[in-house]
Amino acid sequence: MRSIEWDDQNHRLMMIDQRILPGQLEVLSFDRYQAVAEAITTMVVRGAPAIGVAAAFGMALAGFQSGAHDLPGLKDDLAKADDMLRASRPTAVNLPWALGRINRLVQPFQGSAALLRKRLLEEAQAMAEEDVATNRRISEFGAVLINDGDTIIHHCNTGALATVDWGTALGVIRMAHEQGKRVHVLVDETRPRLQGARLTAWELQQYGIPYEIIPDGAAGLMMRRGLAQKVLFGADRVAANGDVANKIGTYMLALAAYDNAVPAYAVFPTSTVDLTLGSGDQIPIEERSQAEVLDIQVHHQPVMPQGATARNPAFDVTPHRLIAGLITEKGVIYPPFHRNLPEIILR
Ligand code: MRU
Repeated sequence: MRSIEWDDQNHRLMMIDQRILPGQLEVLSFDRYQAVAEAITTMVVRGAPAIGVAAAFGMALAGFQSGAHDLPGLKDDLAKADDMLRASRPTAVNLPWALGRINRLVQPFQGSAALLRKRLLEEAQAMAEEDVATNRRISEFGAVLINDGDTIIHHCNTGALATVDWGTALGVIRMAHEQGKRVHVLVDETRPRLQGARLTAWELQQYGIPYEIIPDGAAGLMMRRGLAQKVLFGADRVAANGDVANKIGTYMLALAAYDNAVPAYAVFPTSTVDLTLGSGDQIPIEERSQAEVLDIQVHHQPVMPQGATARNPAFDVTPHRLIAGLITEKGVIYPPFHRNLPEIILR
C-alpha cells in the first residue's frame, strides 16, 4: 500500500505507522483531524511531502467532523483545523504549502457546505496523486545523473514512506536501478531517529538494491577513499538562494562531499521551495525532545549517564555553495541558484 491512503468505504485516512518499522508493519486509521495533527508531530507520518498530503486529508476529515449546517460555520471549523495542523511541525514548508492550497479552495467557495466537504476530499486525493506523479518525474530527471556502477551516499529517508509513494532522492536511485544501472547505496543511519537505518534500508531491501548502512560520521572517510561517487538527500525547505534545510547531518555530509569533489544533489518537489525566504538562515528549525537523543539502551541498560542533557535540532541548513544541483520535477537546476531557482519555479 501507499504510506498514505484514503479508505473510501469507511471514510478514514490510513497511514503506515513509521515509528515501529521495520519490526512491524502496521497501518493506523484516522477519522479526526486532531489525531492527524498528532500523528505528524509524533512522526507516525514523516517526510516533507508525506506530511503535506496528510495535512490535506486532515482538512478533509475536519470537514466531515464539523457539525456545521451552513457554509460560514463550516469555514470557521476549517480555520480551527488549519491552525492546529499548521502548528504540528515547523520546518517542512510542504505543510503550509498543502494547507495554503486547501485554503485557496475554501476561502472563495460559495456553494453548499456539503459540496465543500466533497471538494476538500477531492482536492486532498488530487494532491496525493500529484505527489506520486511528481516523484516519478523528479526521478527520471535525477536518474540521468547516475552512472552505471555508482555508489551513492544517501541521508535520512526520502523513499515511498517519506512521500505518498515512490520517493524523491530514493526515487532517483530506484529509477536508476529499474533502468538497469548497477547502483550501491551507503545508507547514513541518520541519528537520532535512525530513519536511514530503519526506513531507507527497509525500502532498499524490498527493491532489491544493494546497500550497506554506515554511521553518519563514516561518510567523509568513504568519500576520501574514493568509495562514493554521488551524495543524494531530500529537502524540507529550500530558500530562494538554493540553501537547503534537511534532516540534521546533511550539512556535515555536504561539507565532506564538497571537500572531496563528490557532487551532492538535493532532491525535492517544487512545493518544497519557499521563495519568501532569501536565505536558509530564515528557515525555522525544529528542536525535538532530548529523549530522542538520550533514550538509548544496550543490554537493557541506559547508555548515557543519568542526568545527561542533550540538544536535538531536527534539521540543518546546507549552504547552496556546497550543492552541485537541485533535482526537481521541472528538471535539474544548476548554480547560480539565486537566479536559476526562482526562474524555474515561477515559469
Ligand atoms: O523529521 P523527518 O523524518 O520528517 O525528516 C524529514 C525527512 O524525511 C527528510 O529531511 C527528507 O530528507 C526530506 S523529505 C523527502
